Amino acid sequence: METDLWKSIKKPIIGQAPMDGISDAAFRYITDKYGHPSVLFTEFVSVEGINRGITPLLSAFIHHKTKTPTIAQLFGSNPKDFYNCAMIVAELGYDGLDINMGCPDRSVTKKGAGAALILEPIRAKEIVKWAKKGFKDWSEGRKIANLKISAKTTDFISFIQKKYRLSIKRRLLPVSIKTRIGYDKVVTLPWINHLVEAQPAVITLHGRTLQQLYHGKADWEEIGRAATLTRGASIILLGNGDIKNIDEAKVKISKYKLGGVLIGRASCGNPWVFQDKTPSYRQRLEVAVEHCQVFTKMLPDGHFLSLRKHLSWYCKYLKGAAKYRARLMRVKNMVEVNVIISEMLNHC
Ligand SMILES: Cc1cc2nc3c(=O)[nH]c(=O)nc-3n(C[C@H](O)[C@H](O)[C@H](O)COP(=O)(O)O)c2cc1C
Repeated sequence: METDLWKSIKKPIIGQAPMDGISDAAFRYITDKYGHPSVLFTEFVSVEGINRGITPLLSAFIHHKTKTPTIAQLFGSNPKDFYNCAMIVAELGYDGLDINMGCPDRSVTKKGAGAALILEPIRAKEIVKWAKKGFKDWSEGRKIANLKISAKTTDFISFIQKKYRLSIKRRLLPVSIKTRIGYDKVVTLPWINHLVEAQPAVITLHGRTLQQLYHGKADWEEIGRAATLTRGASIILLGNGDIKNIDEAKVKISKYKLGGVLIGRASCGNPWVFQDKTPSYRQRLEVAVEHCQVFTKMLPDGHFLSLRKHLSWYCKYLKGAAKYRARLMRVKNMVEVNVIISEMLNHC
């Protein structure tokens, strides 16, 4: 029997959407601490890359300690690649795996992965099958030592297990899918019907086609249509696209009878978006500093410069911060962050 993880999460589910280049361990830690979302996702990682032993990719799977269910996201086009990766994700202590069938990026779709899978429903269903098989065999005791994976990958897994003192309980973990309503045109119903046949635990649907990228408005009527299909199949449907605050999330969930929603961009620099809370100017700044500190501690090999965009997002919510933003966009280390934010705090 598949684990009841998704069923056990309090409804409605209001989780954080995965964002490549953003949803690293530090970002998830800060969101978790101040936003308490129902669920978190990692950035997506290539199954092909993992199977080729490219271990730096696995840094996306560095943890932060939490009881909040956290799902590892994978992308790829070769169904069998998902088998090993499901077992790796399980060994790393994640609560489930999510298959990306929505990324519009050319580097991903040209290899038949991400949103390109909308054009290949049979392959998409095979992928779910192999991911589920990986979890099933793992739950029944299959060891990763018996897989053909690189020594560096097994070393990384042991390192994470020791560092986070993971006590891995073998159980059947859930497979979910995140996708869009179409490739170059809207095909919600036939596409979701295919996915329903694969029986994932959850489908997250972003109400745009690949062609739309992030332009225009997410089509929530299509998300509502998909929900009528998934309800009958006991699959949880999470809507996604353009949600700005908790009230909007609740309205959409109730209007379209959804299991919940994922919020992405509106949570950048604003972990409080998951709660009905408006933090003070001072608290926003203190959390921005904490975010940088956590990053340097948890991801010592990470690029400090990747924090600049986060600092800029925190400023978006601060009146009068525009004049500091340009300086924050040039910071190179923690000392520089502290100097500028101390100035900002003195003026608030
Ligand atoms: C910078 C960026 C990176 C993203 N990376 C991923 C990803 O790794 N996996 C994924 O499924 N979706 C990814 N997405 C899509 C988001 O999860 C989400 O579907 C999209 O942003 C719409 O939701 P929002 O309007 O709440 O942001 C990304 C979006 C952005 C803006």
